[in-house]
Amino acid sequence: MLKLPKLYKMSTLRRSCPSYGESMALKEESDAATAGQSEITRRKFYVAAIYGMWSLIAAALAIPAGIYLLIPPRLRKMPEWVEAGDISELEPREPVEMAFRRNQVDGWKIQSEKSTAWVVKFSPTQVVAFGPQCTHLGCAYHWDDRRKYFLCPCHSSVFSIDGAVISGPAPRALDRFETKLEDGKLLLGRLEMSRGKA
Ligand code: FES
Repeated sequence: MLKLPKLYKMSTLRRSCPSYGESMALKEESDAATAGQSEITRRKFYVAAIYGMWSLIAAALAIPAGIYLLIPPRLRKMPEWVEAGDISELEPREPVEMAFRRNQVDGWKIQSEKSTAWVVKFSPTQVVAFGPQCTHLGCAYHWDDRRKYFLCPCHSSVFSIDGAVISGPAPRALDRFETKLEDGKLLLGRLEMSRGKA
């Protein structure tokens, strides 16, 4: 069988059969339209996927930020009393500085802070715990065991064993913690500010 070139065959067919030519043109148009539509669909899909990913990223960033800014920190109930230590071994009227840790709520953060108290045991049921700072300008004072008083090294304020001002610029007696005794353990509550010199 004689093989003719393709162009020849097509043109010959178009010439000999006009309806064939029209149908081929329509088919080509339809193919082009289908290809164009599939291209648009694919592009739409990619655009939608990119927008979707951006939305997810924006939500992941915005939701925690919104919660942080708009919702106030939860009011956490912190224990009001902290254990300072065993006082059964303390000698009467011999002040001891006891260290303890207390949790502080700062917005969303909870910080554990170390603090101290000067503890004086007057009797098995009467214990006093003084705040560790001088009431003049907040320096740390200490117990002078030889002279039997509390002495602040900054400006020489002197306090008696029960916290009263003996001398110096300190305007008020030493501040006291609320105290509670449980099974020989000393529990400390809030630090209460003293009012007078005694
Ligand atoms: S800070 Fe203690 S005397 Fe001034």
